Amino acid sequence: MSDAAGETETKQFDAVIRGGQVLDGTGAPARAMDVAITGERIAAIAAPEDSANWHGLLDIDAANRVLAPGFIDVHTHDDNAVLIDPAMPAKISQGVTTVIVGNCGISLAPITDIDPPPPLNLLGGRDSFQFGSMAGYLAAVETARPSVNVAALVGHGTLRVGRMDDVDRSATAVEIADMRDKLAASLAAGAIGLSTGLHYKTSHAADTAEVIALAEVLAETGGIYTTHMRDEADQIMASLQETQTTAQRANVPVVVSHHKCSGPANWGRSGETLAFIETARESVTMGLDAYPYAAGSTVLDPDWVSDQIRIMITTSQPYPEAKGRDLSDIAGEWQCSLQDAAARLAPAGAIYFQIDEADMQRILAYPPTMIGSDGLPHDEHPHPRLWGTFPRVLGHYCRDLGLFDLATAIHKMTGLPAKTFGLRDRGVIREGAYADLVVFDPERIIDLATYEDPVQQAAGIDYVLVNGALSLRQGDLGPGRSGRVVRNH
Ligand code: ZN
Ligand code: CU
Repeated sequence: MSDAAGETETKQFDAVIRGGQVLDGTGAPARAMDVAITGERIAAIAAPEDSANWHGLLDIDAANRVLAPGFIDVHTHDDNAVLIDPAMPAKISQGVTTVIVGNCGISLAPITDIDPPPPLNLLGGRDSFQFGSMAGYLAAVETARPSVNVAALVGHGTLRVGRMDDVDRSATAVEIADMRDKLAASLAAGAIGLSTGLHYKTSHAADTAEVIALAEVLAETGGIYTTHMRDEADQIMASLQETQTTAQRANVPVVVSHHKCSGPANWGRSGETLAFIETARESVTMGLDAYPYAAGSTVLDPDWVSDQIRIMITTSQPYPEAKGRDLSDIAGEWQCSLQDAAARLAPAGAIYFQIDEADMQRILAYPPTMIGSDGLPHDEHPHPRLWGTFPRVLGHYCRDLGLFDLATAIHKMTGLPAKTFGLRDRGVIREGAYADLVVFDPERIIDLATYEDPVQQAAGIDYVLVNGALSLRQGDLGPGRSGRVVRNH
C-alpha cells in the first residue's frame, strides 16, 4: 500500500485504455476496468475510481465498448501471407492479433525446390517454398515483422513431399526416421506442433502408425498435434477414433481441425460426433476448432465434386475469369460434366457448400470449440471467412442469434486457444500479460464479407493493439507492425 501522498502522484504509462467493459478471456463476466500498458505488456488493471492518477502517452477512450484480449486465429494458412503482405489487413481488421500457421499438413517450411502439389499450392508457387528449415522461416517472419503474432505448426504433408519420392504409400522406417529428425529440428527452432491433412492426396496413404511415430516426437517437447482428419464425411466416426488413438498412443494433446459433418448424407450427425469427442476428452486432451459458415473451401479436386452441393470457384490458374462463378454454370456453358469442368479449371480453388447450418451451430456452441477461420489468403475470390470469421461469431451468432453469451464467445477466441496451444502470457487480460488487445462495439460488430463480395472489412472494431503497439485505430490500419514469432519454449 502506498501512503496518502503516493496515491495522488501521477503514474505514467505508455498507454491507458479507459472506460471499457473488460472481458478478460477466461470466460468471466464483464467488469468496468481501466487497463494500463508499459512496453509490450499490461502494467496495471484497476477500477475507474482507482485510476484517476494514471497518465498515458496514448489515451484510448473505450466508453460503451468491450475491451478483450486480441483474438487468436487457431486455424490459418497464413504462412506465406505474413511474409508477402505483413500488414495482414484481413486479420488485424477483425481484431485478430495472433495467427497459427501450418495447419492441415501444409507448412511453408521445411522444404525447398518443389513444384508444390495440391494442397501445398494453397500457400503459393515454387518461388514461395524457399525455407529448408523452420529456423529460417521463423527468422524471415521476424524480419517481415507482420502486424500479427505468428505461431507455426509443421505440416506432415510438407514433410512427406520433402522426403518421399512417392507419397501414394506409407513411409518406410528410414523415411519416418528422417521426418522425425526434421520435425524435432523444427520444434527446437520454435515450432509449436505438428499438423496433418490425412484427407489430402499428399498424405492419405500414410497409415496411423506413421502418424503416431511422428506425433511421438511432440511428447518430448510439449508440442500439440492438429489434424484435418482422413474423412469428415461418411467415415467421420472412424476418423475421430483414429484421432483419439493417435493422441493416446503418442501421448499428445490433439485438436480436431475445422470440425464438420460433410455432405448431405451426413448432415445432422454432429450430435454423434460431439458425443464421441465429449467421451474421448475423458481419456485424452482433445480440442476442436470451427469456422462460422455452412461452407468449406480448399483446392478444387475433380474427385470431390458432385451435383449434390453448390460449388463456387475461388481461383483458377488457366481460367482466372472463373472466380466467383458456380462450377455448375461453367460446366453448363462448356457442355461437360462437373468433373471435366473441374479438371479443366485446375489448379484451382473452390467453396463447397457441404455443411448443414444446424450442425455448424451445434459445433460452434459446444463449449470446447475454438474459433479458427481457415481463411485462404491467396484466393482471388476467397471464402468470406478470411475477412469475416471473428466479427461473424460475435455479431451474428452471439448477439443476434444468442448461441452463447459474449464472455463465452471471447473465451473461445482468446483464453481457450492460448491455453490449448501453449501461447504463454497471451489470450488473457491480466497484469504481466502481453498487451494484445481489441476494443469493439458489441452493438455494431458484424462481418460484411459475403460469398458474392468477400473482400470486405468487418464493422465495429475500433482499436487493436499488438504487443502494446496500436495497429488499428478507428477502424484504420495503424502505421505500426509489431507482431512477434511465438515460440513453444
Ligand atoms: Zn483443412
Ligand atoms: Cu485448413
